[in-house]
Amino acid sequence: MTILAIETSCDETSAAVVRDGKILSNAVSSQVALHAEYGGVVPELAAREHLKNLLPVTQSALSNAKISTDQLDAVAATQGPGLPTALLVGLKAAQAVAFALRKPFIGVNHHEAHLYSPWITSVPVAFPSPSNQSELVGRVTPCAPLAGGEHPNGAHGVTRPTLKPAFVADFSKFQPNVSLIVSGGHTMLVLVESELKHRVLGSTVDDAAGECFDKTGKLMGLAYPAGPEIDRLSESGNPKAFDFPRPLLHDASDDFSFSGLKTSVRYFLRDNPALLDDAQKIRDLCASIQAAIVEVLVAKTIRAAKRNGVRCVTASGGVTCNRALRQQLALACKKNGFALHLAEKSLCTDNAAMIGILAERKLMQKIPAINLDEDIKPGWVLA
Ligand code: KG4
Ligand code: ZN
Repeated sequence: MTILAIETSCDETSAAVVRDGKILSNAVSSQVALHAEYGGVVPELAAREHLKNLLPVTQSALSNAKISTDQLDAVAATQGPGLPTALLVGLKAAQAVAFALRKPFIGVNHHEAHLYSPWITSVPVAFPSPSNQSELVGRVTPCAPLAGGEHPNGAHGVTRPTLKPAFVADFSKFQPNVSLIVSGGHTMLVLVESELKHRVLGSTVDDAAGECFDKTGKLMGLAYPAGPEIDRLSESGNPKAFDFPRPLLHDASDDFSFSGLKTSVRYFLRDNPALLDDAQKIRDLCASIQAAIVEVLVAKTIRAAKRNGVRCVTASGGVTCNRALRQQLALACKKNGFALHLAEKSLCTDNAAMIGILAERKLMQKIPAINLDEDIKPGWVLA
């Protein structure tokens, strides 16, 4: 099954082609630099950028995948949640393509797609030489690539295709899990009991974890989005230098709250303004804020997994790029004997590949396509 998927829920315009669990292409045009000037995403600007970028991004996804529109079996797009005007661009364009091709259309919940992105892993794939291109596209080769991407047998004079990493969704090892979705707009814990069956355990009652990174970074004078920069500066900072609150850490619920931490950093900087003149103190501050956020995320995820009797934890969303979060989750899962599946860094942030993968699983499970005149669902809450 070959699917064209489109994602425009926030500030990434993305199109991907997915075939039988393999990501043939995943084109992403990020608007981060544009919105940085305003210190956050401006919805109207985001929608205009999607309008400008969607066609070239989609053309690039199709040409990178070497797929023509007549080879598509279905079209998918993010239907919600997200910025209304941004969602409209991708959903209506995808529905128009489905209409023109007379193919089924699948509207996908963005958060539900995040739940399955940790099962998309990088594997070495045989890439074609020009003469046998059509034969080899998409074939997965089980052996690991050597440095430089050459097949080990190439040394014996056998002509082998070059191996390159490609992304493939592998649900063969799927097991019930607790999934942490952590981004600029959302922080939630979800119990994924089986494929396409899930229940939200808790979510943020105010700011998302990414928002906390971005807003505390702004207080320190860092550019939007500050999360990646705080991650970088924290590498040479002392996480124990300053003691910030760990909101709701010991609360019985699986909910999160990060606005109190942001406020506490605001007051701390008000009382210690000279600290921002010292580069090492800024690094210590970054590391201390990051430690507070990461401790809460990890502790609550592990506790939810134990409480729900699952042996597996997954994580996705932009903040899952954070090195401390990845390390601390790995350590905690090892200590508790849990399997851990973290989304690949390039698939943590918003992308159409995860939309295509979920759409394909839905079609395989005979979940009906939706009507072409169905509207966006900006406030679509994952149940
Ligand atoms: O998932 P995403 O691309 O977009 C949505 O918000 O939906 O996530 C963006 C968020 C931003 O808040 C950004 O600061 C944060 O992810 N982020 C990070 C890192 N990389 C991205 N936060 C901490 N450490 C990182 N390395
Ligand atoms: Zn997202």
